[in-house]
Amino acid sequence: MENYQEITHEEMTLRMAELKKLKEEINLAYIIKDFADILASNNNGLMRVQRIVSDLRVFSRDQQPENRIWFKIEDEIEVSLRLLQHRITSNIQITKSFNFLELFYGNNSRLGQVFMNLISNAVEAIPESVEKGMLTIRTEKIEDKVVITVTDNGLGIPEKYQSALFEPFFTTKTQEKGMGLGLSICYGIVTEHGGTISFESTVGEGTAFTIELPYSIKEEN
Ligand SMILES: Nc1ncnc2c1ncn2[C@@H]1O[C@H](COP(=O)(O)OP(=O)(O)OP(=O)(O)O)[C@@H](O)[C@H]1O
Ligand SMILES: [Mg+2]
Repeated sequence: MENYQEITHEEMTLRMAELKKLKEEINLAYIIKDFADILASNNNGLMRVQRIVSDLRVFSRDQQPENRIWFKIEDEIEVSLRLLQHRITSNIQITKSFNFLELFYGNNSRLGQVFMNLISNAVEAIPESVEKGMLTIRTEKIEDKVVITVTDNGLGIPEKYQSALFEPFFTTKTQEKGMGLGLSICYGIVTEHGGTISFESTVGEGTAFTIELPYSIKEEN
């Protein structure tokens, strides 16, 4: 029994030494960090794939536009911001000015996609080199409409591009960064809800996208 314990102990020491050597050889800390990076980038990749797929689904109309519910527009904006959190660089300050706060009757996931696309564009328009990036999201009631504006102080849109902006596949981005579907999707979804989408932009100053959607008040049961 004593012998057995000794052997085991020796064996253990040996194995530990081997393990230590192996650990140094494969540089475990590095691999763990690398793996985390890979996972994070896969996650970004997955997010992108997910957005492209849902964009394409809007085109193929397998999502029913009449899938409407009563929901809070502002909640859906918060969801979009959370989903895009990892892409909002630390130089960008987000200002939320939420003043609508009523229940809205519409397709929340499709309108969520509109907010995702507009916020993505705003964030992509603010280079990391801009020290004080600003993204402002505002909701308000104007007469019988809810008006949502997404404003950035990014690059702005050159006039020569402005007329093509809502066309499918119009993009000024590289292939990995943009397909040029975001705004045409937004246009389709907003129109489906009886609303309008427009923008104002000045190169070097920034861009504001405005959505106006007619709404009715929910009747209490
Ligand atoms: N906030 C913005 N600031 C500056 N340019 C913008 C902004 N929003 C849109 N654009 C311009 O409009 C083009 C079309 O936008 P859209 O969202 O349709 O496509 P994308 O962003 O290029 O690609 P995708 O949305 O499919 O990833 C963009 O490539 C960009 O040039
Ligand atoms: Mg886009």
